[in-house]
Amino acid sequence: MVNNGQPSRTALMAAAARAAHLLVDDSPAIFADPLARTLLGERAEELLGYHRSFGEHPLLCGTRTTVTTRSRYTEDRLAALAARGLDQYVILGAGLDSFAYRSELAHPVTVFEVDEPATQAWKRDLLASTGTAVPPSAVFVPVDFERDGARSLTDRLVRAGFDPGRPALVSWLGVTMYLTREAIGRTLAAVSGFAPGSELIVEHFLPAELRDEAGQSYAEMAMAATAEQGEPWRTFLSVEQLDRLLVEHRLQPVEYVPQRETLAPADWQRTDALRPLDLPVLARARVPARQVSQPTAPAEPWSARSSGAACGADGGVTAAGSPPSETATGRGPVAGAAVRSTPAVGPTSQGWLIASPRSQRDRIATERTNPPDATSMPR
Ligand SMILES: C[S@@+](CC[C@H](N)C(=O)[O-])C[C@H]1O[C@@H](n2cnc3c(N)ncnc32)[C@H](O)[C@@H]1O
Repeated sequence: MVNNGQPSRTALMAAAARAAHLLVDDSPAIFADPLARTLLGERAEELLGYHRSFGEHPLLCGTRTTVTTRSRYTEDRLAALAARGLDQYVILGAGLDSFAYRSELAHPVTVFEVDEPATQAWKRDLLASTGTAVPPSAVFVPVDFERDGARSLTDRLVRAGFDPGRPALVSWLGVTMYLTREAIGRTLAAVSGFAPGSELIVEHFLPAELRDEAGQSYAEMAMAATAEQGEPWRTFLSVEQLDRLLVEHRLQPVEYVPQRETLAPADWQRTDALRPLDLPVLARARVPARQVSQPTAPAEPWSARSSGAACGADGGVTAAGSPPSETATGRGPVAGAAVRSTPAVGPTSQGWLIASPRSQRDRIATERTNPPDATSMPR
């Protein structure tokens, strides 16, 4: 439970940072959320005032950097998948995420907002009191990741209209650090039961030994602040540890994107105070094609297509299968799991990438997900 049954205050802080980004940082914006300010309700002036007065404080600019880069990465991916016909978006720990109320995409896409009940009730009140229209494509699904089992998440989503037989994009931004490993595992177990071709984008925070100085200093300040708000950080995961968790739960890692890799190097030449931190990493993973029991492994495992996964006219949401040995046995540690000290790693023997330059990562990720006979996967 968040904050002893109170609505999440960190959700408010994240929305304040998104709103402030458009007011105190220079152009070009990393991510534009014009509705964030409205959702701050009567606290808008107070919260934005901190950013206006102390905008270059490392805690405030670190938060703006973190919330904008993760939302941009995720909504770019959603746009690419939606262009191929994906029409279900599940936001785990939605907080004051405003995608459902501001994006044109939110009409063809049904948005399932999952959050702890008190926070969700508070958000619904805020939407009503600020006159923010809730479209029929926005669906609220109250779930507490700590208290409710993996089945509950799926069951409640299905009761709310989610079709587990069709692919979905699932985002989980700014949440895992507040959870126990057990709750993270249960949630991954639920997501792995979604349709093949579904994708998960999950943010995790690196443990202290893998952070740079700026990341460590931000973490110390943010940890103190969130603990004071009743929402202490509990779990830090290296790329290697998250990778193991994903694979244990039968999810296929696609890429790990440290914050500095969420933008092209030229886009970090900013005239404001926003700089990347070695602390947050965005992992993208896929629900692989279900393994039908076969006597021998397919010759080209990554070209396996799911019968139920394709969505869109060209079946663009491709369920690239994992080599059976990966999902059946688990894998050893990921080469180069120390993100910070690994400038460029090509495809490993397992075929995914860590901390490689974006262009290289995209190229190889494309090669992995688009075997020569497969329809192109949106990037
Ligand atoms: C820092 S906010 C991030 C909100 C949003 N994802 C964003 O990027 O703005 C953390 C969110 O995780 C949710 N959360 C934390 N613990 C949770 C739990 N045990 N069950 C469900 N939601 C939880 C909070 O309610 C809150 O909305």
